Amino acid sequence: MASWLLYLFSTIVLAQAAVIVPGASWTDTEGNIIQAHGGGFLKVASTYYWFGEDKVLDSTLFHAVSCYTSTDLETWTRESDALTPISGTMISTSDVVERPKVIFNTMNSEYVMWFHSDTSNYGAAMVGVATAKTPCGPYTYKGSWKPLGADSRDEGLFLDDDGTAYLLYASDNNQNFKISMLDTNYYNVTEQVSVLTGATLEAPGVIKRDNVYYLIASHTSGWDPNPNKVFTASSLAGPWSTQVDIAPEDTNTYYSQNAYDMPLGTNGIYMGDRWDVSALGSSTYIWFPLSWASGLPVIVKADVWNVNLATGTYTVATGTTYEAESGTLGGSAVLLTDSSYSGGQAVGFLGDGGTLTLDIIGIGEAQWVSLYYANGDSTWRNTTLSVNGGANVVVQQPSSGGGHVIQSVPVKVTLKNGANTLTFSSGQASFAGDLDKIIVYTTA
Ligand SMILES: *[C@@H]1O[C@H](CO)[C@@H](O)[C@H](O)[C@H]1NC(C)=O
Ligand SMILES: *[C@@H]1O[C@H](CO)[C@@H](O)[C@H](O)[C@H]1NC(C)=O
Repeated sequence: MASWLLYLFSTIVLAQAAVIVPGASWTDTEGNIIQAHGGGFLKVASTYYWFGEDKVLDSTLFHAVSCYTSTDLETWTRESDALTPISGTMISTSDVVERPKVIFNTMNSEYVMWFHSDTSNYGAAMVGVATAKTPCGPYTYKGSWKPLGADSRDEGLFLDDDGTAYLLYASDNNQNFKISMLDTNYYNVTEQVSVLTGATLEAPGVIKRDNVYYLIASHTSGWDPNPNKVFTASSLAGPWSTQVDIAPEDTNTYYSQNAYDMPLGTNGIYMGDRWDVSALGSSTYIWFPLSWASGLPVIVKADVWNVNLATGTYTVATGTTYEAESGTLGGSAVLLTDSSYSGGQAVGFLGDGGTLTLDIIGIGEAQWVSLYYANGDSTWRNTTLSVNGGANVVVQQPSSGGGHVIQSVPVKVTLKNGANTLTFSSGQASFAGDLDKIIVYTTA
C-alpha cells in the first residue's frame, strides 16, 4: 500500500473511533478541563452539542451553562456560554442552575433549554426555561416556576418521535417522580402523564427502543452516588416496571450519577457525573456503553473504549493485567486476602510508609493505566505514582464505599518501549486505597 494511502486509511480509522476514558480529567481543545456537569446533549446535523454546569468556581451557585461542540464525542471545543447569570432574577450568581437540557422545536425552529432552577438552599424547587435561535445561543431566559404548581428539582427532557416533549422530574419534595407533557412551543408543561409514587428518583434520562421507553434514574443521596436504576414502559403514561439495576449494586453505578442517556445504534451511552464535593469543578465524567444484550440496558464497565458514531457501535479496549500481589512490597505494605480481590489478593497499608513496585511492559507511548483499588472505608483517598523513578503524580481514589468493593481510576503515563517500573504510594503521608491490580492499555 502506498504510504499516503496508509496515512489516509489510519486517519479515517482514527476519525471514526473516538476514545472514551471514564473518570479521566477531560480537557477541551484549548486544554482546559471540560466544565459541563449534569450535562445534556443535542445533535444538530453531524455536530453534537454538550450543555452543562460550569463549576470552575467549585461552587453550587450559578456561573454559566457552557456549550461545547464535537463531531466524535471525544474532541470538544468550547463555544460561547449558552446561559449566563442575570442579577435580580432566579438565575443570578446567588442562585442554582443545574442539569440544563436542550431540545429543538422544528415547528418554530427554536432551541429550548430547560433546567433545574433553585435558590441556594434548594428551597424553591422550580424549572427554568430559556430559548435561542442557534444551538449555543446565547439563550434568552423566559422565567422560573413550579410546573403545574408542584416542586421540580433534578430534571431531564425527552423528545418523542412525534415531536411531543416531556419533562422528567423529581417532585413533591423529591418523594414522587413525575413525567409531564410540554406544550407545542416547549415553553411550559400542560399535563401530568405519569407519576412514580414513593419513588425517590432524580437525574433522569429516557431512551426509546423498539417502542419501549427505558427510564434511567438515580435515587436521591445528595452528591454521593447510589445504584442507578432502569424502569420500562410501553407508554410514558406507564404502567412502569419495577426498578432493575444497571450496574452491580455495591459499586454505586461505578461511583457515578446519571446525567443523560444517548442512543447508540441499538444500544446506548450512559453519561454520568462522578461528583467530587470537595472540588465540584474537578468532578469527572463517567460515560459507559449501555448494552441491551440482556433485553434491558446494562452498563458495560470499560476502562477505555471506542465509540464509532458512523456505525453506532462501541468497542471495549483490552489491556494487560498485573496483579498487585505479583509486585514488590516495601515498608509497611501488607498482602491482603479476600475472595473479592482479583486473584484472591491485594496489597494494603499503602502510603504512610507502605509502597508497591510493579514491573510492567510498555510500548513507548503515553498509555492509559487503570488502577483497581478498594478503600477500607467510605473516604476518598489517593495514591502517588512514579514511573521509572520519575516525579510522583497523585491519582485520586474516590470512595469505594468501604468493605471490599473494587473501583477503578485511570491515569495516563508515558512508558518506555519494553520494561518499566511503576512505584505506588511512595512519599505520601496518608493511606492510599488497597491496590488489587492494574491494567495497562495500548489504546491511546
Ligand atoms: C406555566 O404554567 C403555569 C401554570 O401551570 C403558569 O403559572 C406559568 O406562568 C406558566 N409559565 C410560562 C412561562 O408560561
Ligand atoms: C490525598 O489524600 C489525603 C488524605 O485524604 C489528603 O489529605 C490529601 O490532601 C490528598 N492529596 C491530594 C493531592 O489530593
